[in-house]
Amino acid sequence: MSGLVELLEWKMRGDARGWLMPVEGDRDVPFEIRRVYLIGGTNRGIVRGAHAHRVTSQVAACINGSCTMILEDEHRRESVRLDAQNKALVIPPMVWHEMRDFSPECLLLVLADTLYDESDYIRDYGLFRQLAEHDRDTR
Ligand code: TYD
Repeated sequence: MSGLVELLEWKMRGDARGWLMPVEGDRDVPFEIRRVYLIGGTNRGIVRGAHAHRVTSQVAACINGSCTMILEDEHRRESVRLDAQNKALVIPPMVWHEMRDFSPECLLLVLADTLYDESDYIRDYGLFRQLAEHDRDTR
């Protein structure tokens, strides 16, 4: 069984003037980008996320600072430290995710393949486990 953590390494184009990091839909992320949001102002003790999406796929990278992302599906729980602006994590649908241990000035960039829709969220952990296990049993 493969791991849950799938990282993308975005190309940094640097020269004497500094760097530039392009991110293109369908090329640098595995979907067409329909939404971009940033998470910031997070203190170290804060936990964010703590939900899964029914259909939305996302990719997240810390474009400043770092944070730890915890991923969980019906089989396993894994964590990864996002600590470089070009280290992007794929968050598929039906994967519970939590962000914690934010460094000062952490800025998390998230790209998504859907527009915001609260009905796409599963915020109840018990319900998430129930749905994930049901999906596994019907696969
Ligand atoms: P929330 O999902 O609670 O954030 P987190 O994943 O970090 O726990 O979202 C915080 C608020 O922002 C909430 O009122 C919903 C709103 N929101 C949008 O309006 N659009 C979006 O794309 C997202 C992700 C959230």
